[in-house]
Order: sequence, then structure tokens, then C-alpha cells
Amino acid sequence: MKRRLLYFVTFVTIIITVSSCYYDSEEALYPSVNSTCDTTNVTYSGKVVPILANNCLSCHSNASAPSAGANIALENYADVSLQAASISAAINHTGPLSPMPKNGSKLKVCLISTFDIWVRNGKPNN
Ligand code: HEC
Repeated sequence: MKRRLLYFVTFVTIIITVSSCYYDSEEALYPSVNSTCDTTNVTYSGKVVPILANNCLSCHSNASAPSAGANIALENYADVSLQAASISAAINHTGPLSPMPKNGSKLKVCLISTFDIWVRNGKPNN
């Protein structure tokens, strides 16, 4: 009888230990990827343009690029599409390229993945 109780206690302890591992939520593990990150319907006009407008165009608009943005304009589709690979490397801070936004903090994971999804989708002009 005592032996059964011991088995039972051991069993319960194992279950509690194992199941406690599944309390890890994605939010807790990856704080910047949260449920508010909506990566559905990633369009150029709806998702990519706002990211660039809010974080990059102060230096990389057609007007500011020559003075502040190393002549790299990211204001229209053709320019963004052509430079998508460099943009991705720059915002992911992975490359040999200068990390962007320059002198700013790295973009939220959600914005970076949104841009990368747009590239993966074939850079649609939509
Ligand atoms: C404060 C001004 C400023 C902001 C904001 C800024 N950039 Fe830049 N960017 C520069 C300058 C200046 C360079 C030239 C390289 C350097 O000086 O580091 C540059 C270079 C680049 C390059 C080329 C990198 C290379 O090493 O060849 C890319 C791509 C780029 N920026 C994309 C972006 C994107 C995307 C954003 C927004 C997420 C952004 N930049 C925000 C000023 C800025």
C-alpha cells in the first residue's frame, strides 16, 4: 500500500514537472512577437509604406536622401523593390551593411518580419 502511494506521488510530481514546461507562452519567450503582430494581408501600400514612412523617410525621402540618407531614396515602389535585400539586411542588423534606422533603435520584430514577408511574397506592388 505504501509503495502504491509512493508511485502515485512520483507520478504526480512527474506530471506537474512536465506540464509546467508548457506554461511558457510565446509572449514570455519572445516579448516582441505578440498577438498584436498582424502579418496577414501584407501589402506594399498598407504595411510596407507606413514602416518606411515612420522610420526611414526622415532621411531616405526623395528630398532628404541627398543630404541625410546617402542618396538612397526609399519613397517609391521602384526604389524600395530594387533595394529590398539591402533594406532587409539593414533592418535585421545582420549584414555587413549599416544597421538601420541609423542612430535609432532596432525596429520591432513585428515590423521587420512584415517587411521580410513582403519580400518573400515577391515584393508585390499592391
Ligand atoms: C537618421 C537618418 C537615417 C534614418 C532614419 C535611416 N537611415 Fe538608412 N542610411 C542613412 C545614412 C546616412 C546611410 C549611409 C550609410 C551610413 O552612414 O551608415 C544609410 C544607409 C542605408 C542603407 C544602405 C546601407 C549600406 O551600408 O549600404 C539602407 C539599405 C538604408 N539606409 C535603409 C534604411 C531603412 C530601411 C531605414 C528605416 C528603417 C533607414 N535606412 C533609416 C541614414 C538614415
